[in-house]
Amino acid sequence: MLVLGLESSCDDSAAALVTGDRVILAQVVVGQDEAHRPFGGIVPEIAARAHVERLPQLIRQVLDEAKAKPSDLDAIAATAGPGLIGGVMVALLAGKGLALAARKPLVAVNHLEGHALSPRLADASLDFPYLLLLVSGGHCQLLEVRGVGQYRRLATTIDDAAGEAFDKAAKLLGLAYPGGPAIELLAREGDPRAVPLPRPLVGSGEPHFSFAGLKSAVQRAAASGAHRPADIAASFQQAVVDCLVDRTQRALAACDAPTLVVAGGVAANQQVRSALADLAQQNRRAFSVPPGWLCTDNAAMIAWAGAERFAAGLTDPLDVPARARWPLDADADKVRGAGVKA
Ligand code: KG4
Ligand code: ZN
Repeated sequence: MLVLGLESSCDDSAAALVTGDRVILAQVVVGQDEAHRPFGGIVPEIAARAHVERLPQLIRQVLDEAKAKPSDLDAIAATAGPGLIGGVMVALLAGKGLALAARKPLVAVNHLEGHALSPRLADASLDFPYLLLLVSGGHCQLLEVRGVGQYRRLATTIDDAAGEAFDKAAKLLGLAYPGGPAIELLAREGDPRAVPLPRPLVGSGEPHFSFAGLKSAVQRAAASGAHRPADIAASFQQAVVDCLVDRTQRALAACDAPTLVVAGGVAANQQVRSALADLAQQNRRAFSVPPGWLCTDNAAMIAWAGAERFAAGLTDPLDVPARARWPLDADADKVRGAGVKA
């Protein structure tokens, strides 16, 4: 089985060709950090225009690299949401055009399902069910993954996502976007115990996450001038890790899935990876995390989610809509603040 994956829901344009037996024949990701830097955040209109300019070339590039033609494809998978709607429409419409021209099935992939199934692309031994900590720029959730298309949300954020907290803290420290990698680098030179910072909701009976208070505390610490930026970065990173560990421990107690899995951009962070690996071991659960490049946005995970859905007989009609919001678990209770952002 050969699946083309297309992604443009945020600020990365990406295309990939993946086989049903987990071989990534070709993949390319082009970011837009330079285009957005002058504005200090992602400008949706600029992002959408950049996807329009770049995505067709990237599709040609991966097909050429793999010496494949559209007629060789078994399915075309494109992210259909959630995300910045102008950008989401680019990959989805490109996928529809290819599906129409090559007469191939279209799979409309939820970007979050791309992250959720990405560990199975990297780890052939990872079976359902598993407890997933999904930590990205737009989401911070704990989900029980029961199968393809079967997700039960156990927790979400009541304000900021974990990656969003990294990005905001980085901005307060004068670091460039995206903030996660910049904070991780600076934190290596800092003392994680130097700056006292809160751990919102840690120890709480409520299952959810919160990071807004932590961001405000970083703002105060930075403004006080009393601390080295590297100490603030290291203390902030440690506080996020402590929150993720505490909330995941709570979910582990409520979920008997044999494996703990972490995915999404923040899972590229070494401290996050090692703390969650330790937590799994303490709880006698197996642990799986994709390689860093597969944690941040890419099209290989979209192609793989497409392959999993196609294998399960799940394809979509050409009038499938692009969606700015699209929860993985439609039955989950609404939570204040959650899911507001892409
Ligand atoms: O999954 P992703 O690429 O895009 C979304 O779907 O949101 O996640 C991007 C987020 C950004 O907030 C970025 O700062 C964060 O992941 N991130 C990291 C690291 N690499 C990316 N956060 C902490 N440490 C990292 N090494
Ligand atoms: Zn993502």
